[in-house]
Amino acid sequence: MRSIIGKTIAAAAILAASASFAHAGDVEVLHWWTSGGEAAALNVLKQDLEKQGIGWQDMPVAGGGGTQAMTVLRARVTAGNAPTAVQMLGFDITDWAKEGALANLNDIASAEGWDAVVPAALQKFSKYDGKWVAAPVNVHSTNWVWANKGILDELGIAQPTTWDELVAAMQKVKDSGKIAVAHGGQAWQDATIFDAVAMSTGGPEFYKSAFIDLNPDALGSDTMKQVFDRMSVIRSFVDDNFSGRDWNLASAMVIKGDAAFQFMGDWAKGEFLNAGKKPGEDFLCFRFPGTQKQVTFNSDQFAMFKQGDTVSPEQAALAKAILSPSFQSAFNVVKGSVPARIDVSDEAFDACGKQGMKDLAAASESGNLFGSMAHGHANPASVKNAMYDVITAHFNGEYDSDTAVKEMVNAVALAQ
Ligand code: GAL
Repeated sequence: MRSIIGKTIAAAAILAASASFAHAGDVEVLHWWTSGGEAAALNVLKQDLEKQGIGWQDMPVAGGGGTQAMTVLRARVTAGNAPTAVQMLGFDITDWAKEGALANLNDIASAEGWDAVVPAALQKFSKYDGKWVAAPVNVHSTNWVWANKGILDELGIAQPTTWDELVAAMQKVKDSGKIAVAHGGQAWQDATIFDAVAMSTGGPEFYKSAFIDLNPDALGSDTMKQVFDRMSVIRSFVDDNFSGRDWNLASAMVIKGDAAFQFMGDWAKGEFLNAGKKPGEDFLCFRFPGTQKQVTFNSDQFAMFKQGDTVSPEQAALAKAILSPSFQSAFNVVKGSVPARIDVSDEAFDACGKQGMKDLAAASESGNLFGSMAHGHANPASVKNAMYDVITAHFNGEYDSDTAVKEMVNAVALAQ
């Protein structure tokens, strides 16, 4: 299985490496926004640029979370054919900046006043060595639950606010013959749930200590064992066909009423909206039980790869467009995320979006805002991937919880 995936990625990488350079006046954008909701959001950006006479050369690399996209990117850069702009997350940005591959966006940043409007938590990844190297397009967060309202109403299930209530709700759904949890068995999706379960089980100090500080005591703790035990509980509520399923197909199960819950970042909302569903009427959005005050965030940013000595006019136009306040509102309303600027009104956003903006501001204020481990905002890819392997092996029954805890400590030590 792994080798098939490996071969597919390698083939995609070779194909991508041979792709042509963007024409002058165009931007070539490498991204992984290929689901219905993601594509709808991407169109907002494409249209914005077209209005300015800038053409778009699309370089989509399917695969939620961007793992495959990052493999293809490495191949392109190695072949001396870097795309103009690349969707990237967290530590991947600073890792590429360290290699000297990214263009300096300081002129645009100062002309547009980015320093004053982009939150510090994002600037940590948009800047390297005092230089802006990426333009943040949004803020997503991973600790959300997406629920089919019709199923909950029919079964008399109230919105769960604690782990125990969640387990009781999942049980009730399962007893009714429906699928309790729509999930896709891919490492990044398993890890996305792990983000929420770890925060809920151990609280913010544990999350920070284990995932951000990589403290071996926290990684090897009884709390970590409890997190794995809870992952096994969730595993018992997914359907038999979960393995390898894409995240948007899992969202579709909730949309169609085949399943009650999906534990996923707020890009899932893009799928519900794209299917014509309304928050509060057809579906509910709420924080993963026990994480109501916390936000585990990730921000999609566009890094511009050096094409010459200075930033090209097209790259500058793209960066400027991405951070314009009207675009930030229009794009994020469709994408499910919230703006990457603090001065954008929540007026155009639905109830979930408004809550997302409120939660983000409150979490930031109260010290409850943390980078998502699953989405590359807690640690560099080497550590993230080491954690993915352990989480996935446990979710698939290869490790019991005690073994998983030990493997977690070892894998993280080796990855550093
Ligand atoms: C995340 C990304 C989101 C969404 C998701 C699923 O990593 O930040 O924008 O695309 O993957 O593909």
